[in-house]
Amino acid sequence: MSILFSPFNLAKLEIKNRFIFSACEDNLSTEQGFVTDEIIRKDSRIAAGEVGLIISSHIAVHPLGCTKKRKLGIYNDDMIPRLKNLVDAVHDKRSKIIFQLGHAGIQTTEDAIGQLPLGPSPSPKNLEMNEDQIQEVILAFARGSARAIEAGADGIQLHAAHGYLINEFLSPYFNRRSDLWGGSEENRFQFLGNIVIEIKKILPEGVPLLIKLNSNDYTPEEGITPGLAVSYAERLAGLKIDGIEVSCGTTSRSPWNICRGDIPIKEISKSFPEAQRPVVEAALGKMAGKFELQEGYNLEATKMIRPVMGNIPLFAVGGFRHVSDMEEAVKNGYTDFISMCRPFIREPYLIKHIREGKVKAASCTSCNKCFAAVANDIPVKCYNKEFV
Ligand SMILES: Cc1cc2nc3c(=O)[nH]c(=O)nc-3n(C[C@H](O)[C@H](O)[C@H](O)COP(=O)(O)O)c2cc1C
Repeated sequence: MSILFSPFNLAKLEIKNRFIFSACEDNLSTEQGFVTDEIIRKDSRIAAGEVGLIISSHIAVHPLGCTKKRKLGIYNDDMIPRLKNLVDAVHDKRSKIIFQLGHAGIQTTEDAIGQLPLGPSPSPKNLEMNEDQIQEVILAFARGSARAIEAGADGIQLHAAHGYLINEFLSPYFNRRSDLWGGSEENRFQFLGNIVIEIKKILPEGVPLLIKLNSNDYTPEEGITPGLAVSYAERLAGLKIDGIEVSCGTTSRSPWNICRGDIPIKEISKSFPEAQRPVVEAALGKMAGKFELQEGYNLEATKMIRPVMGNIPLFAVGGFRHVSDMEEAVKNGYTDFISMCRPFIREPYLIKHIREGKVKAASCTSCNKCFAAVANDIPVKCYNKEFV
C-alpha cells in the first residue's frame, strides 16, 4: 500500500490517509455568514471522495474580520447549529473537518464591514488597531474556537498566512508598530502567540490546533522571509501547537504566489468597474507567465522548517499534482500530508480515484479561474471550460 494511504495523527486525531483539502473560500455562505445547504453538499461530496481531512474555508471570528459580505462567520452563538450540520455531514461520509479561523485585517473593504478595515499599522485605506481592539480580537479567536468545538469540529486551524490580520502582525512589511505588538520579532509574534495561548486554555486535550503560516510574503518590501518563518515555527513549536501548513503570498500584494499557474486576466478584470479594466488588464498582462506552477512549490520552505518542529506534523500546500511526486515527498519525510485546494474544486473524487488506481495525477490545469470566481463574488467551482 502506498504511504499516502497510511493513517497519521494530528494530536490525538487520526486522519485515515495523507490527503488534506486545504481551506477554500467558496462564496456560498448566506449574507449573514451562515452555512448553506450548498456548502454542506460540496464538502459532503469531497468527504465521500475519501479525502482524510477537510479544512473549512476561512471563517471570520469577528464581524470586522469578514473579507466580504457573504463570508462564513463564527462570531455569534446562532451560527453554531448550521456549522454543526456541516460537521455532521462530513462525519457521515467518514472524513474529518477542522475549522479555519481568521480575521481579514486590511484585506477587506468599507463596503463589506461598514467601516474602514483594521490592521496593525495605519494607511489611507485602514485604521491602526488600538490596545482594546487587539484584545477584543484575541478574545474573539478564543470564543470562535469554543463555538467550533461546540459545533463538533475536529480541530482548529488559525489562518496566519496570505496577508490576513495575523500575517499582518507577523510581517515587518505590514506591522510598523513600535509598542508591545511590533518593532521586534518577539513583539510581532505576540499577537499570534497570545491567540494560541488563549485557545489552548479552552481546547479539549488531544484536539489539534494547527497554524497556516507563510514561508514568504513576497511583499514589495521585506515581510516574512523563509528565515523568519523558521523562527516563527520554532516559537509555535515551543507553544506546543499540533501542526503547521506551509504556504506563501498575500492576497493584496502577491496573490499569484499563493496560487501559482496562469493569470486569468479577463476573468479578474471582470471584477473591476468597466472604466478600470484596461489598466487592470495591462498590469496583469505584465505578470503573465511569471508564476509558473512547480510541483509542491512550498516544499523547499517546508524542508527548512522541519528541523525546528521536533515531532510536530508539518505539511506543505501548493502545486501538488502528480501522485509519484506526492509519494516521494511523504516517503522522504519532507511533508507528513499532501494538502491541495484547486485539484479538489475540479475533482471532488480525486482521492478515491487515486486509491483505485484510476488516475496518477490531478487534472487541474491551474488556470486559476476558480480564484477569479472569489474576486467576482460568484460560487467557486471549476470554470476551466467557461467562465460565466
Ligand atoms: C478559490 C480559492 C479559495 C481559497 N480560499 C482559501 C481560504 O479560505 N483560506 C486559505 O488559507 N487559503 C485559501 N486558498 C488557498 C489554498 O488553500 C491553497 O493554499 C492554494 O490554492 C495552493 O494550493 P493548490 O495548488 O493545491 O491549489 C484558496 C485558493 C483558491 C483557489
